Amino acid sequence: MKFGHFDDAAREYVIETPKTPYPWINYLGNQGFFSLISNTAGGYSFYMDARLRRITRYRYNNVPLDMGGRYFYINDNGTVWNPGWSPVKTELDAYECRHGMGYTIITGKKNGLKAEVTFFVPQDYDGEVQQVVLTNESQEAKEFALFSMAEWCLWDAQDDCTNFQRNFSTGRVEILGSTIYHLTEYRDRRNHYAFYTVNDTIDGYDTDRDAFLGSIYNGWDNPETVKAGKASNSFADGWSPIASHYKKITLAPGESKTLIYILGYAENPQDKKFAAAKPEGLLTREAWVLNREKADAMIEKYNTPEKVAAGLAELRATWDSLLSIYKVDTPDDKVNRMVNIWNQYQCMVTFNLSRSASYFESGIGRGMGFRDSNQDILGFVHQIPDRARARLIDIASTQLSDGGCYHQYQPLTKKGNADIGGDFSDDPLWMILSVAAYIKETGDWGILDANVPFDDDPEGKHTMLDHLNVSFYHIVNNLGPHGLPLAMRADWNDCINLSCFSDTPGESFQTYTNPKFKAEGGYSKIAESVFVAALFTYTGPAYVGILEHLGKTEEAAKAQAEIDKMKKNTMESAFDGEWFLRAYDANGEKMGSHECEEGKIFIEPQGFAVMSEIGKDVGADIKTLDSIDKYLNCEFGLVLNNPAFTKYYIQYGEISTYPGGYKENAGIFTHNNAWIICAEAYAGRGEKAFEYYSKIAPAFTEETSDIHKTEPYVYGQMIGGKDAKNFGQGKNSWLTGTAAWNMVAISQYILGVKPEFDGLSIDPSIPAAWDGFKAERKFRGDIYEIEVKNPAHVNKGVKSLTVDGTAVDGKVIPVAGDGKTHKVEVVLG
Ligand code: GLC
Ligand code: GLC
Repeated sequence: MKFGHFDDAAREYVIETPKTPYPWINYLGNQGFFSLISNTAGGYSFYMDARLRRITRYRYNNVPLDMGGRYFYINDNGTVWNPGWSPVKTELDAYECRHGMGYTIITGKKNGLKAEVTFFVPQDYDGEVQQVVLTNESQEAKEFALFSMAEWCLWDAQDDCTNFQRNFSTGRVEILGSTIYHLTEYRDRRNHYAFYTVNDTIDGYDTDRDAFLGSIYNGWDNPETVKAGKASNSFADGWSPIASHYKKITLAPGESKTLIYILGYAENPQDKKFAAAKPEGLLTREAWVLNREKADAMIEKYNTPEKVAAGLAELRATWDSLLSIYKVDTPDDKVNRMVNIWNQYQCMVTFNLSRSASYFESGIGRGMGFRDSNQDILGFVHQIPDRARARLIDIASTQLSDGGCYHQYQPLTKKGNADIGGDFSDDPLWMILSVAAYIKETGDWGILDANVPFDDDPEGKHTMLDHLNVSFYHIVNNLGPHGLPLAMRADWNDCINLSCFSDTPGESFQTYTNPKFKAEGGYSKIAESVFVAALFTYTGPAYVGILEHLGKTEEAAKAQAEIDKMKKNTMESAFDGEWFLRAYDANGEKMGSHECEEGKIFIEPQGFAVMSEIGKDVGADIKTLDSIDKYLNCEFGLVLNNPAFTKYYIQYGEISTYPGGYKENAGIFTHNNAWIICAEAYAGRGEKAFEYYSKIAPAFTEETSDIHKTEPYVYGQMIGGKDAKNFGQGKNSWLTGTAAWNMVAISQYILGVKPEFDGLSIDPSIPAAWDGFKAERKFRGDIYEIEVKNPAHVNKGVKSLTVDGTAVDGKVIPVAGDGKTHKVEVVLG
């Protein structure tokens, strides 16, 4: 069952009912100011950092679930309704929500009145613009009241939802004309403020939540001022400041009125925080005067429908250009839709926000993740390489000089998060992968010379190459009894905690140190991760390639020897006969072996082991892929492990705490499905690669939205696995490494258009039924118009490759670098 449809020409998903099986959201903003907006206009805004600079308030895990946002209320002769249906939930005569690239348009109709609200954050602008177009579609004149509403958050979202003894007494607002200012803590320790304005006169306002609602027993669904059809002109003094504009509107039959609201954020330099003269009409209780220049300029920028139209056109043009870098035309519309629009869009969002703020991430728990953000770059780097470069430097700066790294950092401060600390065994390797991806995309070898400090040596002179070096050797220098990498607190799987296990409630599985291992430095020197071994052998060659390019032949050979040794150790100690083991636990016992009672096979190491060709000479690759198909494949994707754990295995940490079929205990973790898709494509099994791809790609799940529940236009982290009661139900949508990895899987492995150090390689691995496909790729200043022909209907194998009619040996198109368009023809066979 569907709840909407794709409008590919407009690059929108059109939601046809407000009652989606879960709030279906969108993101507004790209750099500084961000908003989350659901299909009923729920959500919130923040600047840069969802934890430290929250602008509007949102209550997670609320009842009802999605309550609080920016709401418009209409009182049309006693009928109170919202264009997005919620929170009042008056049945609408018509409803539609269009989520597009950086904007959302919600339209509601009731009793002949139509309200269309366009929400967007313009490029290079720190505010959300909300354009409300009201049209009287009835035969009678209409007189009604319109109310806006936004609830301020007191900046620090963590403090805001815990420290009530203080917070109820700190709120400060001001009102000047049609603009309501949020000034909490501005006088003292902050130099930033927020405002909510409308480009017209108003007939009243409210800034105190209790006054707006009329009673502490009312919710957003029942504000008394709105019901009364008249604002109460309240002035908040502490308690809970909000911003609401009240406007009386009369429309003749057929007449329209447009109002533009702006929810903005501005910062003043320390020495320009205050103004000398008090503006006339200012409603305040302060003795000091805010310097309003920034807000004035921002309001001026979008105060007419023409300016708003220009802002929207600029946003659209930005996305035209971003999405013109990699475009495909395959025989499958759903693939085209994912590759050309939604997967790339999601990659931008995950790049921007890492795992910080979604409808499943509160914006408080996690900032930017070291492993997460490095992986996000893989799917994003072609879009805006300069932003990827800056991010790489930020991330690397949270690394320690021994190669270990802070697991997370806050985007506002760019400082490693000491609460979480480090010692996650996989973290450093992702850095090698992302820096290599950046160089492959851009050819900018100069990044290796960039000065990048270590967190524990902020003044030291270190280069990015130094960071890659310590990343690589952090693995080599931390091996266990089988010569495999130590598992430490966790590897990619945060819930396999072979050193942090505990049976005391509240002890964190990732950061608690089992006293057993205290003397050993915080983690077991026995527990080893086969996943990290395989990731090392997959990633290591990129480091070797970099060294070779730099002419550091000896260092390259030394690194290569480590990779070869790791492959040998893995084959000797970690191949279980039909697949690779997952780990050795702290007791030296095998995890993920046919000998285990439960959790006999895990997905994570397999794909990287196959792509590293570990044991390929004895058929380990195909045996492994076949085992995945046999034990992990099910209707909605590949489960993480099998059989699911039904008992609590204390020595494994968090994983078996989840009921079978959820999250890391045999859920369908879409992120690592991509690694298998890549591996199947790598092994030339195009049918399997495509089967797995289409099981989890959102556009393919649209038809079963009633089961899947989360947005059919973006990936979620997890889908309930075959052991789950809610088999097939999606969770944790939007912020997941799945976005980047599936972009890599489809674009570089299945369609096979892959940047390499020395050019663009073309080596598709597609369903045999396809006659071929076309792709357009902008790469290092040139445009490649690629046509892949598949006359023999094979899965894989480049028979011939020509560039502008000239045959090229092998699969890599050398970089022309002439800024021209080149025709590439590839024949498979
Ligand atoms: C989440 C985390 C990621 C981790 C994965 C598996 O997606 O963001 O860092 O690798 O879960 O535990
Ligand atoms: C991390 C992971 C998440 C996991 C959780 C366990 O936040 O990202 O996937 O379930 O840790 O506590």
